[in-house]
Amino acid sequence: MSVFLVVATVVAQICTLRVLTALFLGYMGFTWVHDWYRLRHIPGPFWSRWSIFWVIRDLYKGTYINKLDELHAQYGPLVCIGPGWVSLSDPNEIRRIHQVRSPWGRGPAYEGLRLGPGVDASASVIDKQKHHQIRSKLEPGYYGKGVTQVHQQVDERIMKMVRIIHDDYTPEKNSQCHGKHLNLSELIHYLLVDTTSSLAFGRSFGCLDRQEDFHEFIETSVKKLPIFIAISASPIVQAIMKQPMLKVVMDWVGLLGPIALIAKKAAAERFGAEKITQQDMLGAFVAHGISQEELETETVVQLIAGSETTMTGILNTMLCLLTAPDAYRKLQSEIDEAIRSGKIRSFPASESEAKSLPYLQAVIKEGLRLLPPAGYIPKGCGHDSEVCGLRVPANVNVDISVKSAVRDKAIYGEDADVFRPERWLEVTGTKLFLMDETWRIIFGGPSRWECLGKGLALTQINKVYIELFRQFNFTIVNRGQPFQARGSRTWIITDFIVAVRARD
Ligand code: HEM
Ligand SMILES: *[C@@H]1O[C@H](CO)[C@@H](O)[C@H](O)[C@H]1NC(C)=O
Ligand SMILES: *[C@@H]1O[C@H](CO)[C@@H](O)[C@H](O)[C@H]1NC(C)=O
Repeated sequence: MSVFLVVATVVAQICTLRVLTALFLGYMGFTWVHDWYRLRHIPGPFWSRWSIFWVIRDLYKGTYINKLDELHAQYGPLVCIGPGWVSLSDPNEIRRIHQVRSPWGRGPAYEGLRLGPGVDASASVIDKQKHHQIRSKLEPGYYGKGVTQVHQQVDERIMKMVRIIHDDYTPEKNSQCHGKHLNLSELIHYLLVDTTSSLAFGRSFGCLDRQEDFHEFIETSVKKLPIFIAISASPIVQAIMKQPMLKVVMDWVGLLGPIALIAKKAAAERFGAEKITQQDMLGAFVAHGISQEELETETVVQLIAGSETTMTGILNTMLCLLTAPDAYRKLQSEIDEAIRSGKIRSFPASESEAKSLPYLQAVIKEGLRLLPPAGYIPKGCGHDSEVCGLRVPANVNVDISVKSAVRDKAIYGEDADVFRPERWLEVTGTKLFLMDETWRIIFGGPSRWECLGKGLALTQINKVYIELFRQFNFTIVNRGQPFQARGSRTWIITDFIVAVRARD
């Protein structure tokens, strides 16, 4: 009898297992066919019909941004890149999706960008109402209150950087550094991490003073961010991040280590019985109702969103200038002339002084245009809609190939792939308006998701350029490969080595 029972149980279990396996496989098969069927009319490579693996791999390898650009060149402005994913490159359609009253929002893939399960921040929250609430607490800090303090912080760091270049890298000043080359990507990284940390946490990491990667933030972002970004595209990770209950299990401290602890400490100082009240960016966030928990994540977001991007803008523009001698000379003489005529009086130059130099403004726009620092995150729509004349089903991730959009030949001319700042000075009226509006896509604008740090990024880029060109001349050392760049959602630029000479 008992033998019979055991045999029966085993048989039943095998059957249950089989039934479960069959159900599971059936479900997977159904989802796959369903995904394939929904997107079968959208052009795209063969592999995109099967798996999202390719997207994850290219995000990890840092080949994603260029891959999207190549796919658009081959398949047109709307391309299927994976089950439930398409990519869009048409600037007019991107601007339409961005419109204020558009039904489009952030796509399902944003779930994966949370710093931990259920931890929402401005950059990851999908719900429009919640996003609006977080933004309204942050905007006064980013745009208004405490701006004088922001400029002081930026100026102080730029002066430090200039002093380091003078003392350690120019043979004119210090005969011992003959032949010593400057790791420009490293120094600019120190500059931005120092400024952004002083704004985000109320105290600077002090990388410039130590001339080292304090708290290993740079190391962390170079090594861990690609992993974080890549797995965020996985539907499994997105499902996990949706669950606030898993928060206890997966504390985001694990992901970012010491940085998360600094953020916690900095936020704690602004709350509680002995809180510090200060007229700075953090102070403005707190004054407008941010909670301690929100502050902890927003400061980390600020550090990640603000340093790598601005750095890419500065370094790529520098590379463009170093490989276009005419533009280099033109910019340097515009700056020299402005100093001679008294247009620039401050040191470091103020932002309004910088903005009065038309060629500098054109150089900055053109440098950001050729390598948009942030390839951003997919948008989505709750119902079926039409994009580029094709039907896009509800809740598909529509990724945006910013790089392809801002090299559109109909908008920027046949030589759109070339660094030519003059293009911004040759046109007026609607033509210029269209170029400008398309350029705003680089910062996620014009839209309700436009970058909060845009003003801050442009302030820094403007000031850095005037001081670098006022005081030094630069030459590329490795002509074959001036720098290494990996691009997934943002770029990581390393090993930009230059030789420096002090000017008069
Ligand atoms: C050249 C430099 C920069 C570029 C190109 C850039 C680009 C972008 C883009 C494209 C987005 C929209 C992402 C999306 O939702 O699809 C964004 C959002 C954001 N950026 Fe930037 N960014 C830059 C610098 C900065 C800086 C310096 C900070 C702060 C210190 C910053 C903070 C943010 C924040 C907080 C958001 C989220 C805004 C929201 O969710 O509404 N960014 N940025
Ligand atoms: C430049 O600095 C980066 C970051 O600190 C470092 O990883 C790299 O090895 C340096 N490159 C050279 C050639 O010194
Ligand atoms: C700096 O570069 C400019 C433009 O190439 C050149 O005219 C000038 O002589 C250089 N100055 C020094 C000190 O190298």
